[in-house]
Amino acid sequence: MRLLIMGPPGAGKGTVAEIIVREYQIPHISTGDMFRAAMKEGTPLGKQAKEYIDKGLLVPDEVTNGIVRERLQQSDCQKGFLLDGYPRTVQQAISLDAMLQDLGMKLDAVFNMACGEELLIKRITGRRVCKDCGAIYNVIFNPTKVEGVCDRCGGEVIQRKDDNLETVHNRLAVYEQQTKPLLDYYQGKGNLYNLNGEHDAVVVFEEIKSILGGLK
Ligand code: AP5
Ligand code: MG
Repeated sequence: MRLLIMGPPGAGKGTVAEIIVREYQIPHISTGDMFRAAMKEGTPLGKQAKEYIDKGLLVPDEVTNGIVRERLQQSDCQKGFLLDGYPRTVQQAISLDAMLQDLGMKLDAVFNMACGEELLIKRITGRRVCKDCGAIYNVIFNPTKVEGVCDRCGGEVIQRKDDNLETVHNRLAVYEQQTKPLLDYYQGKGNLYNLNGEHDAVVVFEEIKSILGGLK
């Protein structure tokens, strides 16, 4: 199972991805999560990525392509994977095609989660994440049982630095300009499936499951 999940910031990619990777036992490859882990560790990659992420801009393609290339070569990706938030530019999609070709692989399905802007902003500004295990919460839609404490691991629940209103507007503009054109790219390949990201994440997952069931 080699899958890709796309959609604007806040569409619910990470939330649905958590369910997909649990159900199908495949690695979750989120470039955003990889950059945030590097930022937390203070590595050179993290320092470089931070300059872009904090402003809501994309990290340069060559940097992003490099970390994905390395990740896809790891042995756990042999059984499949779920890409979340990569590719985000046509250049990255072309690069991914070349990587997959080198590895003798191809994507089985590309899922696009759509969601209206007003709801995206509400979701992003209300998002909280566990510093330790990465669990995703929302002060309105999915609050933790105890404020600031992760239900799953007891870790501290914080707000992502790029989840402020100003950065969100930049991220949405970047999505429109640089990432949305990718939908035509995958539409042309015939493996794009559009999903309503405004629905409950479990409902979205059921739809994904039924699409995947029909592929074989
Ligand atoms: P990344 O971490 O990928 O962020 P993003 O694309 O902006 O997407 P988000 O993680 O914000 O949203 P999501 O769709 O995962 O929503 P979530 O499930 O969390 O990237 C961050 C940055 O890294 C980028 O801006 C860029 O700088 C850099 N970067 C990453 N990849 C790159 C690349 N390929 N190239 C260059 N740069 C790159 O949900 C959001 C909230 O809504 C949560 O609070 C959740 O609880 C809630 N929610 C979700 N679904 C539902 C639902 N169905 N009902 C109710 N609430 C819901
Ligand atoms: Mg995410």
